[in-house]
Amino acid sequence: MSVERPSSLLCARRRLLVAACAAVGAPALAGAPPVLLRFSHVVAPDTPKGQMALRFQALVHQRGGGRIRVELYPDSSLWGDDDEMEALRLGAVEMLAPSLSKFGMAGVPEFEVFDLPYLFADLAQVRRVTQGAVGRGLLERLARQQIRGLGFLDNGFKQMSARHALRTPDDYRGLRVRVQASQVLGEQMRALGAHPVVLPFGETQRALASGVVDAAENPPSNFLTQGLAALQPHLTLTQHGYLGYAVVTHPRFWESLSRVDRALVDDALAEALAHGNRLAEALDRQALATLRQTPGLRLHALGAAEREALRRHLRPVVDGFGRSVGAGLLRDVQRAIGSG
Ligand code: LMR
Repeated sequence: MSVERPSSLLCARRRLLVAACAAVGAPALAGAPPVLLRFSHVVAPDTPKGQMALRFQALVHQRGGGRIRVELYPDSSLWGDDDEMEALRLGAVEMLAPSLSKFGMAGVPEFEVFDLPYLFADLAQVRRVTQGAVGRGLLERLARQQIRGLGFLDNGFKQMSARHALRTPDDYRGLRVRVQASQVLGEQMRALGAHPVVLPFGETQRALASGVVDAAENPPSNFLTQGLAALQPHLTLTQHGYLGYAVVTHPRFWESLSRVDRALVDDALAEALAHGNRLAEALDRQALATLRQTPGLRLHALGAAEREALRRHLRPVVDGFGRSVGAGLLRDVQRAIGSG
C-alpha cells in the first residue's frame, strides 16, 4: 500500500537510530528509569483499534526489554470517551485513540471534517487526507489544546441500525439516534428529522436496550463486538460516514521520555498503525459476513437512488461546515481526495 512506504522507511531509519543510541548510550541507559504507558480506549480487542493497541504493546515490550511497560485498557475499562481527554491532561493516562469525531469537543472542531456525510467514497480517499499534508496539519493543530497527535488509524464506514429499515429520509423522522459528541453528527441527524442524543460509546448498548435511544450509527466491527445486533434487528448499509481515530498523548509525557525511548515508542506505534490500517478493511468484511449470518438481524442494501436521496438531504450539513468551521479546510480535503 503506497501510504505505508514512507512510514516503513521512517521505521527503518528509527530502528537504526534506536540501535545506534542503544549501542552508544548503553551505559547511560543502564540505570534508566522504568516507563509506564497506560493506553486507554473504548472498543473491544477484536477491532482495528484493539488489534493496533495489542500490536503496539507487543512491539514496545519486545524492543524495550520490559523496561517500558504498556498497560492496555480496552472497552472503556479505565476511562470512557467522556472523560479520557481530561484524564490525559491530568496525567492519569498516557495514550488514547479517540475517534476523530471527539476532537471537536476537545477544542479542535476542524477534525469534524471527517464526520461529513458522503465526503469519502472509500478508505483510499481517506488516506490521501490522513497520510498527507492535510492530516499532518490537523495533528499539529492538536498542540493548541495540549495534545500531541501521533498518527491516524482507520476503522471504516458507518451503517445505520434501528428497529426498522432506514431506506428513505422519512424513515428517520422522530428517531432518537445515539451520536458521538460532534456538532456535525448532530446536524446530520437533525437534517434527517431525527433527534441526536450524545452518549459515550460505553453507554450505547444500555441506552439502546432501555429505549433511551432508538437507533445508532456504527461501523460493522463496533456493531458486532458491542452486541448491538441483539437490540437493533435492522442494519441498513448506508455507508454514509467515516469513522477513524487519532492516537494521541500529552506533550508533558512525550517530552519526559528520553530520546531513545521516544524513538522506540514512535517506531512501534508507526508499525502498529500500519498493521491496524491493513486490518481495517478485512475486519470490516469479516464483521459484515458474521452479521449476515446472525439470526434475527436483517441487513438492507440501499439502491443508487435511495443513497442519492440521502446524500441530497445531507448536503446542507457539508455546506454548513464550510461556513462555520472552514471553507478553506474543506477545499483542502476535497483537493486531497481528488488528487489520487
Ligand atoms: C463511537 O463512540 O461510536 C466510536 O468513537 C467508538 C470507537 O472508538 O470506535
